[in-house]
Amino acid sequence: MSQTKSHYASFRSIGAYVPEKILSNADLEKMVDTTDEWIVKRTGISERHIAAQDEVTSDMGAKAAQLAIERAALNNDEIDLVLCATVTPDYFNMPSTACIISDKLGIRNVQAFDISAACSGFVYLLSIAKAFIESGMKKNVLVIGAEKFSSIVDYTDRSTCILFGDGAGAAVISATDNAEEGFIDVHASADGSYADFLVTPAPGAINPVSQKVIDEGLNFVQMKGNETFKLAVKTLTKDVKEILEKNEIASDDIPHFIPHQANYRIIKAVGDALKMREEQVVLTVGKYGNTSAASIPMAINDIWESGRLQSGELMLLDTFGGGLTWASALLPFAGKSK
Ligand code: UT7
Repeated sequence: MSQTKSHYASFRSIGAYVPEKILSNADLEKMVDTTDEWIVKRTGISERHIAAQDEVTSDMGAKAAQLAIERAALNNDEIDLVLCATVTPDYFNMPSTACIISDKLGIRNVQAFDISAACSGFVYLLSIAKAFIESGMKKNVLVIGAEKFSSIVDYTDRSTCILFGDGAGAAVISATDNAEEGFIDVHASADGSYADFLVTPAPGAINPVSQKVIDEGLNFVQMKGNETFKLAVKTLTKDVKEILEKNEIASDDIPHFIPHQANYRIIKAVGDALKMREEQVVLTVGKYGNTSAASIPMAINDIWESGRLQSGELMLLDTFGGGLTWASALLPFAGKSK
């Protein structure tokens, strides 16, 4: 028996912020032993944006969030929950970046917190926003994925420094009585037995700041790239198949497949396994690199700003990241077309 809900969660608006400075493959050629040809062939990335020295995660998150609130035609004081997904918070570990963003936006006396789910963070937030809204607890939830990933990248490590970029994306998720506008499904999961695939060893309870942390560069991201790659392809494909089958939707009927932007070859392998046509698959990895929790909302913003994403159209989101975590979502874009 299908359950009738009195509140549905709807995706009302999107916004993003991309820092000005570009770090190109040619720049990286001067920093580590790599080539533009290798990077493009193995990852599809040509350039990524890097935040200014005095520009932090909350600055980028606040800019993306302000745009999303305006595009939802709301005032900042109508937001009743602020959620931020990031693995590069302003502070390890308090106050949360969500609290700082709330303050920058003048949103006060409202629940605000961060989550840590790495690249899956934004889709994890959609599941949390959905639960808060469907339970009737909140009406307008601001969800933000923001990363200053350059703050945890070792720019002498060619296996990671070519991949990551900085940026932020945000959306407003609002309650609606109209089932047509509501999320169809969100699925989020994790397997901590793969924790060592992607890890920032310090600072934390295991490695508090010490001379050893500095000497061994334990504050930088470490990744088992090839193992992560293979698991990503397998997990993303399985996850999408499951959410489509469960909701009886054919991959052909998805106008916008928006996967996490980590590597073009991962996206291509997943798209091919799902028999997606090229025009269904959204690709921004070439110009932004991997921006972790910001990657999916930045990609949604790109297709909205270019007029490709229209009101009412279906989006399929699919993501994978450190933890390991993964998540997928099937939902209509319930905001206005540009
Ligand atoms: O967002 C969270 C999820 N993250 C991901 O999904 C990332 C997944 N992983 C990847 O995208 C890929 O594994 C990488 C792009 C990181 C690496 O590509 P790969 O095809 O898996 O290469 P590999 O690690 O197996 O390395 C192949 C070779 C090695 O040389 P040898 O041992 O064959 O001589 C590396 O040392 O490529 C070398 N290499 C490089 N060469 C030039 C590694 N990085 C570079 C580089 N430039 N930047």
